[in-house]
Amino acid sequence: MQLSDFPVTHVEHSRLSQVNFDKLGFGTIFSDHMFSMDYEDSAWRNPRIHPYQALALEPGVAMLHYGQTVFDGYKAFRGLDGDARVFRPDMNARRLHNSCRRLCIPVMEIDELSEIMINATRELIRLDHEWVPSGWGQSLYIRPLIIGTESTLEVRAASSYRFMIMTSPVGSYFGDLQKGVSLRVEDRYTRAASSGGLGEAKTAANYAASLLPGSESRAQGFDQVLWLDGNEHRYVEEVGAMNIFFKIGGKVVTPPLGGSILPGVVRDSALTLLDDWGLPTEERRIAIDEVIAAFRSGVLEEVFGAGTAAVICPVASIGYRDEVFHVPAKPPGELTQRLYDELTGIQYGKLEDRHCWNLRVPLPP
Ligand code: COI
Repeated sequence: MQLSDFPVTHVEHSRLSQVNFDKLGFGTIFSDHMFSMDYEDSAWRNPRIHPYQALALEPGVAMLHYGQTVFDGYKAFRGLDGDARVFRPDMNARRLHNSCRRLCIPVMEIDELSEIMINATRELIRLDHEWVPSGWGQSLYIRPLIIGTESTLEVRAASSYRFMIMTSPVGSYFGDLQKGVSLRVEDRYTRAASSGGLGEAKTAANYAASLLPGSESRAQGFDQVLWLDGNEHRYVEEVGAMNIFFKIGGKVVTPPLGGSILPGVVRDSALTLLDDWGLPTEERRIAIDEVIAAFRSGVLEEVFGAGTAAVICPVASIGYRDEVFHVPAKPPGELTQRLYDELTGIQYGKLEDRHCWNLRVPLPP
């Protein structure tokens, strides 16, 4: 058997009828089937599709104690023609590959990982095609996850792993996108070390580090945290659930990928679209003082986030120390809206996919 041929065990009873597609949250419902594969005796083996089910793990599994785990996230959209379109899964495979390397998880060759991820995604979508929502703004979120499964309290890489892919019908991550989110600049806690840390890996530790500052932000009435670099607490990094862009004096500026921020697939797509339109962009360090000065002098035009879950998300205000700065134009700004329309137009098959980003999966009518 090839690693890309999967035996399929079907559910006996689908849970589909319990799902209210008018009230999808984010990642609270999982489709009927999932993919699993194991790493044992120094090789990845036994790829399979089976009913979504609970895991049986010993409490001594090192991953539960020391966090040897990576994940990724991408989406399939039901197009206007009824087919599903998976957005840039090859980039997610590459990022998962890099995350594995950083977390010392034995990984297949990139081409093999990509083929397995793409074939598993295609099979899951075909099997659970009725779980792919059709509402505007809705999608099937696809979550690959790899965990160390060896039971040991020694601090070292595990000798066994489980690779899983689950899917979840989702709505918008931030509720009403038109309203725009509020961010609070965090200048005390750090999401990820400035260099040599885990920041560019999609791993649990970065999200664990964000929980306390995130809940402090919400208690102060903000939606999300805007992270600064871990060294000087001076340079803007990202928002945790999305990368960040500023339109200042006609130019779009976003922090560079320097190892401490997540290399977002939607970030890359937004930069490509801006470039297609001939708009000037800069990937460079941007100090929070520069952002505040741009607010004060009136040259800051728009702020938006870009992420798989967040899509293109307008930012309405930024709180820094004791002040809240409001983006002048009512969100979404013109460019934010244009990017949102173009990106979602491509994802839902309304606009030409000129960069061949979509993996099309024909679905039964
Ligand atoms: C994503 O956009 O896929 C994310 O991982 C963000 C978050 C839901 C963890």
